Amino acid sequence: GEGVVRRDRFSGGPARSFLSSLEADERIFEADLEIDRAHVVMLAEQGIVGDEVAGQILTALDAIEVDGHDSLPDGEDVHEAIETAVVERVGPDGGRMHTARSRNDEVAACIRYRLREDVLSAIETTIALRESLIEVAESGRETIMPGYTHLQPAQPTTVAHWACSYEGTVRRDTARLCEAYDRINQSPLGGAAFAGTTFEIDRERTADLLGFEGVVENSMDAASSRDFLLETVQALSTHATTLSGLAEDVIVFANRGFVDLADDYSSTSSIMPQKKNPDTLELVRAVAGDAAGGVQGLTTTLKGLPRAYNRDLQRATTHAWETVSAVTEASEVAAGAVATADWNEDALASEAGAGFSTATGVADLLAANGLPFRTAHELVAHAAEHGGDVDAIESAAAEVLGEPLAEFVDPAAVEAALDPAESVASRDSQGGPAPDAVADQIDSARDALAVD
Ligand code: ARG
Repeated sequence: GEGVVRRDRFSGGPARSFLSSLEADERIFEADLEIDRAHVVMLAEQGIVGDEVAGQILTALDAIEVDGHDSLPDGEDVHEAIETAVVERVGPDGGRMHTARSRNDEVAACIRYRLREDVLSAIETTIALRESLIEVAESGRETIMPGYTHLQPAQPTTVAHWACSYEGTVRRDTARLCEAYDRINQSPLGGAAFAGTTFEIDRERTADLLGFEGVVENSMDAASSRDFLLETVQALSTHATTLSGLAEDVIVFANRGFVDLADDYSSTSSIMPQKKNPDTLELVRAVAGDAAGGVQGLTTTLKGLPRAYNRDLQRATTHAWETVSAVTEASEVAAGAVATADWNEDALASEAGAGFSTATGVADLLAANGLPFRTAHELVAHAAEHGGDVDAIESAAAEVLGEPLAEFVDPAAVEAALDPAESVASRDSQGGPAPDAVADQIDSARDALAVD
């Protein structure tokens, strides 16, 4: 008929494969079939398409699903190819499937439908990672370790406190993805090309059939906006950034002999037989680059696009697929690597006090005994330059205060403040590293996990 002639005329010629998204659309093949089904059911219920033809179309869609994406006829995209396959099976009546819609609202619905599933998987991996971190925290409550700022020894902390710090961040990553999910989960179907339709369609019905929470009301917004993609990719990129820091920490800890990665998460060298390298975590660290690239690619593609549909949007979608796949995989691997790593308690303990990392505790002690904190800071800084032991603190006191240390504080208390374990135990402020304070953090982490 007439339609076939027009399609032949606009087949793309030499630009055919450049135009086509058929290959990339494999990801939305199942989604498109579901959207076709919902649309046809609604058309039949509304009396726009007869029940018999609707039944034939639904049967054809089932057969097309069985045959799979690879068996589709040629087409500019999966929507066109599936429609062609329906018409091949049903005859010209198959063309009624596309009544009261456009590929523009159709593709937007497909992306949202599939992305929902992908974002749910991403959310699940963030939850699995939180579980891994909570387990590490649970067994590392008393495991003293050095804490760093600027990668320099700063103050002793515990493995549990470190693990809970990442759990808190990942918890917010989960929340950001959940928020993105809620805005993905709205149906654009029925927006048609952008300008609605003359047919008496029921948009709430197709939304309901497809499990969407509601509809994107304005038909031009529905068919052309992709802010939901941007928001999702941004949330994924934020999570990838969290993962990259976590990976970097574990890589550094492995380098220092604090942690031993399981063989499953390590690689060896093709030439150096003794090597055990943290390659998986280096790849996790690198995925932050992929995700940032996704945000950049998507933002640049969407910037300045006029209303309503423009074909640029076809290339916006792939940024989202690539980002969600890469970040989900990285999150899963990070969870596994963290869950299976062995912490070397002896190495951690022997380094926990290195670099006079208990200095702040000594200064706190002097301040608690009446010295202005700034004076205490100066005194301990002096001591740090001379070894940071009790002797150094005593001579610093004599120099800075002109009086013996014992005038201000019990030397036994100073001795205790110099011990990394005592130092940790004394920092029991809310959210601090003392085992009791961390126990509260683990409780909050578990409560949040139960809600998510
Ligand atoms: N494949 C296209 C996309 O991914 C949808 C087709 C809409 N095409 C069009 N010329 N209006 O955005």
